[in-house]
Amino acid sequence: MPSLNTVLLSPTDRGLRAAASLLRDGETVAFPTETVYGLGADATQGRAVAKIFEAKGRPRFNPLIVHVADRAAAARLADLPSEAALLAETFWPGPLTLVLPRRPDCPLTDLVSGGLATVALRIPAHPVARDLLQAFGGPIAAPSANISGRVSPTMAGHVLDGLRGRIAAVIDGGPCPVGLESTIIGFDNNRPVLLRPGGIPLETLREVAPDMSLNRSADITAPGQLTSHYAPTARLRLNAPAPDPDELLLAFGPLGDGPGLTLSATADLQEAASNLFACLHEIDRMARERDMRKIAVQPIPDTGLGLAINDRLKRAAAPDA
Ligand code: TXA
Ligand code: MG
Repeated sequence: MPSLNTVLLSPTDRGLRAAASLLRDGETVAFPTETVYGLGADATQGRAVAKIFEAKGRPRFNPLIVHVADRAAAARLADLPSEAALLAETFWPGPLTLVLPRRPDCPLTDLVSGGLATVALRIPAHPVARDLLQAFGGPIAAPSANISGRVSPTMAGHVLDGLRGRIAAVIDGGPCPVGLESTIIGFDNNRPVLLRPGGIPLETLREVAPDMSLNRSADITAPGQLTSHYAPTARLRLNAPAPDPDELLLAFGPLGDGPGLTLSATADLQEAASNLFACLHEIDRMARERDMRKIAVQPIPDTGLGLAINDRLKRAAAPDA
């Protein structure tokens, strides 16, 4: 990936305006939250969110937490079942993330949901995170600001150690007070399920959600294994340079004459990543419409974002594996 000149910003009006403007331009900016530093991008821009995965070197499109300024903003993105509304009222702003069904008109890129029908939302309590959300004026997707597989950063210096040259900026807001990631709660038929223990003690959660279960349903426990909300009816044939006559083509590069779609006409991995889930939905719809059963997928290099794209395609090709 290209080497960027990562700037260190202070949490002043000027610094926050600069950060917000970088986010609007589709760049990545790390910022402090009360839990850990997050690596933020505009959650409505697919290419911007693709840059998060690229910077972190994440080999998979795990879904990301989307940070919002207030409950009205959350309600524009997702439906809050009654149990969720109660938890939100009690613990937001704070180190609690709720996994909620996306609204049909949800403007977030599919990439923040890893192709799922849900989105993980949180209203952070850290003043710098809140000021940034205000200055930016929209939802910010942010996983922890570390290289994939490394320890989460709790100081701006940690972020720079891992991501210098890979992200546009870091806002230095000093050490994170909680130092532990947010507690994540999902819902199984309106019943809360603890998906990841974190910043809020279990006992405290139980006071508000006494029926919360810990043994989560297998589907939502391990994000790497998450079932997709799009279940392809057509079969994917991977690494296919050209389609057979009875196949649609999912191209990487120019589409050519046959029926199909391209992930990126210019074979750009960032663009392909940002289009991936939408293209999978759309080509599956095309296949159903034409009563075609097979989709040839052109080879995608196993470098950079290609790793995560190929991981997702492999799992879409063998949905039961
Ligand atoms: O404290 C935190 O939560 C920090 C700060 C920056 O907010 N963020 C953080 O993000 O820890 P990350 O990406 O490192 O962890 C997010 C977790 C992942 O395990 C992911 O799989 C899960 O949340 N997650 C996100 N969306 C989900 C969804 N729709 N369904 C199930 N799990 C989801
Ligand atoms: Mg993390």
